Amino acid sequence: MDRFQVHAPTQVIFGKDTESQAGRWCKYYGAHKVLVHFGGQSAKKSGLLDRVCASLEEAGLEYVLLGGVVPNPELGLIHEGIKLCREQNVDFILAVGGGSVIDSAKGIGYGLANAGEVWDFYARKRDVAACAPLGAVLTIAAAGSEMSNCSVVTNEDGWLKRGLSTDYGYCKFAIMNPELTYTLPAYQTASGCTDIMVHTLERYFTAPSTQQLALIDGIAETLLRNVMRNAKIALREPENYDARAEIMWSGTLSHNDTTGDRSFGDWSCHQLEHELSAMFGVAHGAGLAAVWGSWARYVYKENVGRFAQLAANVFNIPYNFRNPEATALEGIAAMESFFRHIGMPTNIHDLIGKTLSEEEIKTLAYKCSFMQTRTIGQFKVLQLEDMENIYRMAK
Ligand code: NZQ
Ligand code: ZN
Repeated sequence: MDRFQVHAPTQVIFGKDTESQAGRWCKYYGAHKVLVHFGGQSAKKSGLLDRVCASLEEAGLEYVLLGGVVPNPELGLIHEGIKLCREQNVDFILAVGGGSVIDSAKGIGYGLANAGEVWDFYARKRDVAACAPLGAVLTIAAAGSEMSNCSVVTNEDGWLKRGLSTDYGYCKFAIMNPELTYTLPAYQTASGCTDIMVHTLERYFTAPSTQQLALIDGIAETLLRNVMRNAKIALREPENYDARAEIMWSGTLSHNDTTGDRSFGDWSCHQLEHELSAMFGVAHGAGLAAVWGSWARYVYKENVGRFAQLAANVFNIPYNFRNPEATALEGIAAMESFFRHIGMPTNIHDLIGKTLSEEEIKTLAYKCSFMQTRTIGQFKVLQLEDMENIYRMAK
């Protein structure tokens, strides 16, 4: 990690009751008319949506509502949002929800600020030149989109799930009240914690030649231990504020490049998972848990010492200097055991309730290779055949 850039332009407003400041911060960042974008039911049911709207009114702002974002957000609703914003002269988009809602808001923001078809940006046909201003009220600690430059969207035509990272794709502000996550179902809490951990792991497993900074390793390892400890507490006591706060802030730090520069990271598990959630509609974090162990066993020989370090520093497994491979494998098993402990699947059968067919494996790998136009991964560069092998190991 000898060269890197840091860009973290999002203002964070963290703590209890902070959602009551939503209107004030929209106004501060230039809003006149706000699109309040949200998901299925949770924000309505909890009363959060009403509180946010009251805060916009208090700030003297007009707003329109657009709900219905599904997990793994879809392009169709983004088109609808762009049209609505144009008709209603919306000049600010406020996402009230999790990664799916924030990513959908980013898609609308790109479509509003640029002429032409918004999918072209996700399909790498054109470069983004701007994004409408965005804010977020976060309701689940998971994707880290509140402070990342990334948006991940699924095109229903072919069920292609694509990530788009640009310097324009940051929220102006992110409101984070850990109390808002009390209502999460246990599965979503666990899936979110897994995603947070894998964001850190993807950055931990860089190309073997990359120079590592001890400081960054220390942050990453502490974050992993912290999320594991607090995930167990939050699952036992969903209304434990401290545990929810630890997880929420870890989620943001895991994906704003504090735990390493994304461009040096591996990201294979994310690419393999995105095809699973596109094809089967599964929760992203659960999909990551289902492939991580198979990926790890497939690649660990590229740098056994790195996996052994993870085992020793995160799981307190005694480092076997005569046989570091044994330590590395124990660490992989310990990670999977933690995932199972919090109710996550560690293979695809447990994720989707059936074994992948050979045809599905080939389709997933083909789509993951962007129709055989790319490799994935840096710790080990994976070709199409490797992607098939990992899906086969994980099936
Ligand atoms: O739709 P509602 O009813 O709100 O229910 C949601 C949804 O079913 C529910 N939920 C959220 N907050 C809740 C709640 N239920 C009760 N109480 C609350 N407080 O949780 C479910 C999942 O929500 P979602 O937004 O999909 O979760 P997450 O934050 O995990 O986002 C997943 C999406 O983010 C992408 C993933 O691929 C996936 O599409 N990612 C985005 C990234 C980014 N932009 O930087 C990076 C990630 O690696 C990831 O790929
Ligand atoms: Zn993720």
